[in-house]
Amino acid sequence: MDVMMISLRNIHKTLNGQKILQGINLEIAEGETFVIIGRSGCGKSVTLRHMLGLMMPDQGEVLFEGKDLMGLSEIELIPIRQKIGMLFQNGALFDSMNVGENVAFPLREEGRLSEKEIEFAVEEALEMVNLGGQQAKMPAELSGGMKKRVSLARAAVRKPKLLLFDEPTSGLDPVVSDSINKLILNLDKTLNITNVVVTHDMRSACEIGDRIAFLYHGKVHFLGTPEEIKSSQDPIVFRFVNGISDASVAME
Ligand SMILES: Nc1ncnc2c1ncn2[C@@H]1O[C@H](COP(=O)(O)OP(=O)(O)O)[C@@H](O)[C@H]1O
Ligand SMILES: [Mg+2]
Repeated sequence: MDVMMISLRNIHKTLNGQKILQGINLEIAEGETFVIIGRSGCGKSVTLRHMLGLMMPDQGEVLFEGKDLMGLSEIELIPIRQKIGMLFQNGALFDSMNVGENVAFPLREEGRLSEKEIEFAVEEALEMVNLGGQQAKMPAELSGGMKKRVSLARAAVRKPKLLLFDEPTSGLDPVVSDSINKLILNLDKTLNITNVVVTHDMRSACEIGDRIAFLYHGKVHFLGTPEEIKSSQDPIVFRFVNGISDASVAME
């Protein structure tokens, strides 16, 4: 059996009196690119926060490399979080810092490497996103796609084992989205990272996902390969895949 990087087992979470997650089960294997899709507001970001231990479940278990995050203190979570990189949904760069300083930030915060080593790691991360040598640029000088690429370099600079992406292509045009998707796939190959990508964009999901989980009503409603989801006859999956609205869904 494959080694599991992260497992969510029967996760329940109520927020503001609303049952958001109602028994999520996910087993994500080392090295795969796993996509979570679903309509806006269905709990995708909340699910990712559980993987990072930023939110704890009301019920259920989150296992990272087989170790339960529940009950760990903030200090005990530090070594685990060091193995996880996160590209937040609106993963803004620090506007007052140049590109190099932005990418260096997680390394400086960690305080483990010398300035020389940091410099090297930053250049390496920027090259991975095709922005080698752009350290001195300020965020205001960059296009939306370039900003995303810098955020990607910042999330990957510590060479995490697990990289979590929240809507990495939202707000980007299809061509730029495509280039970001290719970079995600490339990271997977060069660093052998396990990727979990949250998106509501079916096209991106199918392009990058080894497997796709479709969240609906707080549960994994469908789990399969891009081919399997595209050919699914399940009416709820079919409507999502084909972008067909549904009165009962629209009311959520
Ligand atoms: N920290 C929070 N406190 C209260 N409600 C939240 C919080 N985070 C998310 N929610 C609610 O949980 C639901 C799912 O949110 P989210 O996971 O962000 O959806 P999405 O699938 O679009 O990423 C939404 O109704 C949202 O308002
Ligand atoms: Mg979200």
